[in-house]
Amino acid sequence: MTTATAHSTRHIDVVLGARSYPVSIGQGLLGDPGHWRHALRGRHVLVISNRTVAPLYLDRVMAGLDGLQASSFLIDDGEAHKTFANVGHALTALAQLGATRDACIIALGGGVVGDLAGFTAACWMRGIDFIQMPTTLLAMVDSSVGGKTGVNLPAGKNLVGAFHQPRAVIADIDTLASLPQREYCAGLAEVVKGAAIGDIEFFHWLEQHADALAARDTATLIEAIARKVRYKAGVVARDETEQGERALLNLGHSFGHALETAGKYTALLHGEGVAIGMLLAARLSERLGMSGAADTARLQRLLQQLSLPTTIPPGMQAQALLALMHLDKKNLAGTLRLILWRGIGQAEIVSGVDEAQVLAVLRENTR
Ligand code: NAD
Ligand code: GLY
Repeated sequence: MTTATAHSTRHIDVVLGARSYPVSIGQGLLGDPGHWRHALRGRHVLVISNRTVAPLYLDRVMAGLDGLQASSFLIDDGEAHKTFANVGHALTALAQLGATRDACIIALGGGVVGDLAGFTAACWMRGIDFIQMPTTLLAMVDSSVGGKTGVNLPAGKNLVGAFHQPRAVIADIDTLASLPQREYCAGLAEVVKGAAIGDIEFFHWLEQHADALAARDTATLIEAIARKVRYKAGVVARDETEQGERALLNLGHSFGHALETAGKYTALLHGEGVAIGMLLAARLSERLGMSGAADTARLQRLLQQLSLPTTIPPGMQAQALLALMHLDKKNLAGTLRLILWRGIGQAEIVSGVDEAQVLAVLRENTR
């Protein structure tokens, strides 16, 4: 962080009737239970985290749970541990705690912990409260907001899950101080994505503030997180269960997931796959006459300013990537269904995309 000035906490509401909840973005939030204890209704609390994050931040959360019956459950670090088996272990931890229907789970970590903890909360006694305490930038601007929870199967990522909204999201940006730069930049890809899909003014703002964001300037970062969360909260409020508009949030994901899978989930982080994927989606859109080269160039420039990758890693084959894209959950009846765009700030769901055009874009961009 570049400044010691205290910044006031921002609050953005995800408006879903009786299930509405606030997203709080600020500094010192985890260590000050005044920011989140009001969201706890019962006596039992299980904090779910992982073995990287817990040594850094678990103590300050547990300290705020005095007077309650609280315990913690830790998973090993990494996407490979977002499993049914760990949901089973977390449910056992709830049983050992004697958790009743008014129990609450706190998810302390990145998107892996948040997705698994949220799904555990959706399952225990058919649904209990949970609070998201995201500690990666990606989780703050994307996965902690909107109630998508779930785990992976050997057959694929996020194949099992539930929509289960948190009671509150507490994004304490002080936790980002320990986040590796590569993970931080991957989170910025999800910020760019929001602007690229639906907010041209935000995209322009990002272009103007890219250097400050790359340097982690606190005020700029809080503003960027707040803008992305406000955008996503609006989409979720209009289409909670992804009947339409919410699918736009997957811009770049069909390409990105194929890249992540081809790289065996080690070559690229999720946000890096999304960055390259958005650019490929832009190039395909250009090829299909939906958008212009100038917009693609602006997107590429912004991603590069934020130290994100913009090219497919060497060794990946176009035909193999296309085959992986056919496995995407958004596809219907064997045809490719992609999120494409009509230039900065306007995305569109396109069904039956001509796979020869997709292959041509992949061929042009593989080495
Ligand atoms: P992650 O949870 O694996 O965290 C990335 C790495 O950073 C991990 O090694 C983690 O231990 C470490 N870490 C976390 N916080 C840290 C901190 N403050 N300091 C130091 N290290 C820290 O990955 P992620 O990028 O946060 O999330 C990716 C996951 O989110 C994927 O499983 C993806 O499917 C999911 N996701 C879900 C949604 C949704 O809507 N539910 C949206 C996007 C992504
Ligand atoms: N990350 C996509 C969504 O929340 O819908």
